[in-house]
Amino acid sequence: MADPKGIAIVGSGYVGTVVAACMAKIGHRVVGVEIDEEKLSKLQSGSSYFYEPGLDEILRASIDNGTLQFTNDFELAMAQSEVVFLCVDTPPGEGGHPDTTNVMAAAKSIGRAIKSPHVIVTKSTVPVGSGNWLTTTIENVLDDDVDPSAISVVSNPEFLREGSAVMDFLHPERIVLGGSDERAVDLVEAAYKPILDQSFPGGRTAERPILVKTDRSTAETIKYAANAFLATKISFINEIAEICEWVNADVKEVALAMGLDSRISAMFLQAGVGWGGSCFGKDVEALAATARAYGQDPMILDATRAVNQHQRHRVVHKLQSHLRPLRGSRIALLGIAFKPETDDTRDAPSITIASELMARGAIVRAYDPMVKQIPELPDLQTGTDPFSVIERADAVVLVTEWDELRNLDLSVVAEKMRGNVFIDGRNAFDPARVEAVGLVYEGMGTGVVAPPRNSEPW
Ligand code: UGA
Repeated sequence: MADPKGIAIVGSGYVGTVVAACMAKIGHRVVGVEIDEEKLSKLQSGSSYFYEPGLDEILRASIDNGTLQFTNDFELAMAQSEVVFLCVDTPPGEGGHPDTTNVMAAAKSIGRAIKSPHVIVTKSTVPVGSGNWLTTTIENVLDDDVDPSAISVVSNPEFLREGSAVMDFLHPERIVLGGSDERAVDLVEAAYKPILDQSFPGGRTAERPILVKTDRSTAETIKYAANAFLATKISFINEIAEICEWVNADVKEVALAMGLDSRISAMFLQAGVGWGGSCFGKDVEALAATARAYGQDPMILDATRAVNQHQRHRVVHKLQSHLRPLRGSRIALLGIAFKPETDDTRDAPSITIASELMARGAIVRAYDPMVKQIPELPDLQTGTDPFSVIERADAVVLVTEWDELRNLDLSVVAEKMRGNVFIDGRNAFDPARVEAVGLVYEGMGTGVVAPPRNSEPW
């Protein structure tokens, strides 16, 4: 299986930049395409414009040794590649369907610039069936002297988690390739060979990933189904957490014992304020929209989303039941990013919780190690260190379980606060340790001091 003659990555967002850097690291010559001037010049200088552990080191090394370059010139990128990874974003669009405007625009730019046979690999999460319209879109704009049959589209969904995307890319559990053109699928497989064999420096030969080859629609569905299942697993344990509050059970122990059954597994059974980020919400909604488009009622997917929204309200209810009324109460939110090790605030639970509290007259201050402001909430006060937001607070809420926040000196927290309510939205603290400094601990289905409220007590 011959190596592809160069790889292009179109779209240098969270996914594209990681794919570009890692493909260069495992030995390919890579050109990353980015049309945003500001992002491009940052990437050209060898650093990313967002925070992702380990990424900058690989970017810098690959740019320095000449295996990676970034450009806004599609012709140059197509001339230097045989395989093109399409990694542009698909933000939420009308009726839950993803907005594919950027994918469409990128596909046209690729098609116009192609002069030789290319395999286009979709990494963007696109609605099931997109491989077909992408092929047609590219074919329609090809130069007359380019044979349309020399162009092939392969689906290769990404399973990268923000915060561990580099490791996830280099050491995946599986790689999914969807396409009916065997030659094209083989070429993409060749691009992944160092990862499949774990033969690059730092590879883990004892943990080689499994390659799943299938058709395009199945590959596209695998991505949605995987994300929807993970989101459902979290919503499920969060529903159990609320039941635990009624019956005085501890969800942490319930999850632990459930997870010991390998059919269930312990992963993604961490109860708390629920999931956020740019993927789960959008993908669950998109899959539900696909079902609805065919007249199917996606009952589980709808419940998964509803339970997740409910978690955010539950935090506000908990605060309300302790502080009554919320108006005038000073509340410190610890953590803004949708999860630790990222500066991403897209669909972050912190945003819903902060805006609901502010709407009810609470004075909210938030701290995050990486996030200093939320564009959606310009009025939210943020602090430069955790204690500055805890100062004279009536209640503290852990929203994102950064290590820095898990390791806060609780006696200083208690000393600085005006009140004594400590809501652990990620079940990250040992209730006994919190109570030992005189605070009232309340988790999500653990260490509960009061039964939940199912009315609207505003
Ligand atoms: C998710 C998937 O895990 C990736 O496999 C996928 O590639 C990616 O979406 C995507 O589609 O691009 P990501 O959104 O980066 O990755 O983050 P996760 O680590 O999956 O966490 C998502 C949310 O679930 C976070 O808010 C996290 O705090 C929450 N979570 C996670 C829980 O509340 N409980 C858990 O047990 C696990």
